[in-house]
Amino acid sequence: MCGIVGYVGSRQATPILIAGLRKLEYRGYDSAGVSVWNDGTSRVVRCRGKLQGLEDKLVKEPAPGMIGIGHTRWATHGRPSDENAHPHKAGSVSVIHNGIIENHMALRQELAAAGAKFSSETDTELFAHLIDRQMQAGAPDLTTAVRKALAKVTGAYAFVVMSDKEPGTLVAAKNSSPMVVGLGDGENFIASDVTAILAETRKMIFVDEGDLITVTKSSVTITDFDGKPRHREPKTITWSAVQAEKGGFKHYMLKEIHEQPRSVADTLVGRIDLENDTALLDGVDLDVSKIKRIIFIACGTSFHASLVGEHLVEALARIPVEVDLASEFRYRDPIVGPGDLVVAVSQSGETADTMSAVREAKGKGAMVLAISNVVESSIPRLADYAFYTHAGPEIGVASTKAFTTQLIAMALLAINLGRKNGKLSRERARVLLAALTALPQKMTDIVEQGAQLQVLARRYGAAKGFLFLGRGSQHPIALEGALKLKEISYIHAEGYAAGEMKHGPIALIDENLPVVVLVPRGPHYDKAASNLAEVRARQGKVLAIATRGDTEIGNIADDVIMVPDTALELQPVLTVLPLQLLAYYVADFKGNDVDQPRNLAKSVTVE
Ligand code: AGP
Repeated sequence: MCGIVGYVGSRQATPILIAGLRKLEYRGYDSAGVSVWNDGTSRVVRCRGKLQGLEDKLVKEPAPGMIGIGHTRWATHGRPSDENAHPHKAGSVSVIHNGIIENHMALRQELAAAGAKFSSETDTELFAHLIDRQMQAGAPDLTTAVRKALAKVTGAYAFVVMSDKEPGTLVAAKNSSPMVVGLGDGENFIASDVTAILAETRKMIFVDEGDLITVTKSSVTITDFDGKPRHREPKTITWSAVQAEKGGFKHYMLKEIHEQPRSVADTLVGRIDLENDTALLDGVDLDVSKIKRIIFIACGTSFHASLVGEHLVEALARIPVEVDLASEFRYRDPIVGPGDLVVAVSQSGETADTMSAVREAKGKGAMVLAISNVVESSIPRLADYAFYTHAGPEIGVASTKAFTTQLIAMALLAINLGRKNGKLSRERARVLLAALTALPQKMTDIVEQGAQLQVLARRYGAAKGFLFLGRGSQHPIALEGALKLKEISYIHAEGYAAGEMKHGPIALIDENLPVVVLVPRGPHYDKAASNLAEVRARQGKVLAIATRGDTEIGNIADDVIMVPDTALELQPVLTVLPLQLLAYYVADFKGNDVDQPRNLAKSVTVE
């Protein structure tokens, strides 16, 4: 998630831009830059790395002026570098951008054919060229030029644009990525987040989807992309600065749980090919005929995601899959080599055990694909291929949005491979692609059930232990639900294959042991329901996660959380959400430091 700040007024812009970007640092970034107009032209100063580097550069290359834009970049297209840092300038036009231009390949070809020369690998630079061409073609003003350029762009974006030909004007456009306009006295602000400008003003306009905003120091005009006026009522923000960083949520973890519909939608952008009924992997072109076996290696939550990946790949591509804990794989002299595709799954891309496992696999001749949330982090750089989730920076130590976007990445991988080797029919792929597209809305329905989970967290939160049970691809979700609970509430919890209950764990069951049973619609329903009945017969308390419309489950469980139905293979993306919320509210009621749980680090870079 990139950080965006714009300013137009009567004060020097650069200090305001830098101060705003500093407030966004917590979100994570890999480069930063500003473009400030003064005396006829805008000067762009950019720097890979942290804001301090940009400030140092600005001492040597000052950027005076009273209108400007600033950006902190979280790389999605193009590695972190000075050249790829925003703002991007083409001709008279400077642009900063948060989001993904889906049709960037076609635009790049079209612009190159028209003679455009590019200075970066980014999709954002293309938008600057599109606008500059409109200005050169005689657009009457910057707003019109941006409007015409927008007509050629598809994807998720928040753009802010400035032109040397119209100093004093900022033009912004929003489609999916967050944006807010701050109203000052003889000055106005634009930002991707309230936090960036809260020190300057509390009067904000929350821009909406499809808004095109023209901002000067004395006016804010909003239309739709066709030019039809839109009215947005300003709001006065009462949050503290700390609350604002968390988007009004009490903890980053809760904010990130609620961000999951967005991060799943972002991870799908540009990767669903309805023309050929397949999934695209950003140019990762695996020769499926050379893949005899797939081995997922990962740690923690990423390991649980990999266990779901096993179900997805075996079901959709019929390729044999193994899943290994990275910390075990690297020490057991594994039998791996050519013909094996090792998939290293790591949110941070820096986990030491996973890194070492990748080295081990490469040393034995296996091909390695990394699935990570951090572009150009160590593990993707070490791998032969990299495929990124677009969850944005995950601040909470307990992984939530990274996990669900990893499941999406694996579904895309499985569909891509299954279509390539013919094991997945065009018809079934079409159904799955439609189901993927429908997930964000279904996820929103679930995360908005927080109040119900709060009640259950209070009811069960005093328990000394929990058992989580699941079958099939719900078994990894049981493991993940147990991990979430124990790592932030410090209550012991165990995830178990429901079929294994009678082989031991059933001895644990009594009235003091809450048992969470994942029992969505599907081939395992009857067996999971009978496991649930076994628990109740021994006075165990059962909290069932079931599919909306199930009229039976209420008769055999103490409490039920319903989730919308979806394709069987994608159910884990939905059933994990109530478990994340349950863990969060139990930990919050205990007064724990949910975002920084004791003894834990966000990225385990030591062995
Ligand atoms: C998950 O909630 C934990 N924070 C932890 O298990 C984490 O998933 C694990 O350390 C792996 O991290 P990675 O995905 O960055 O490699």
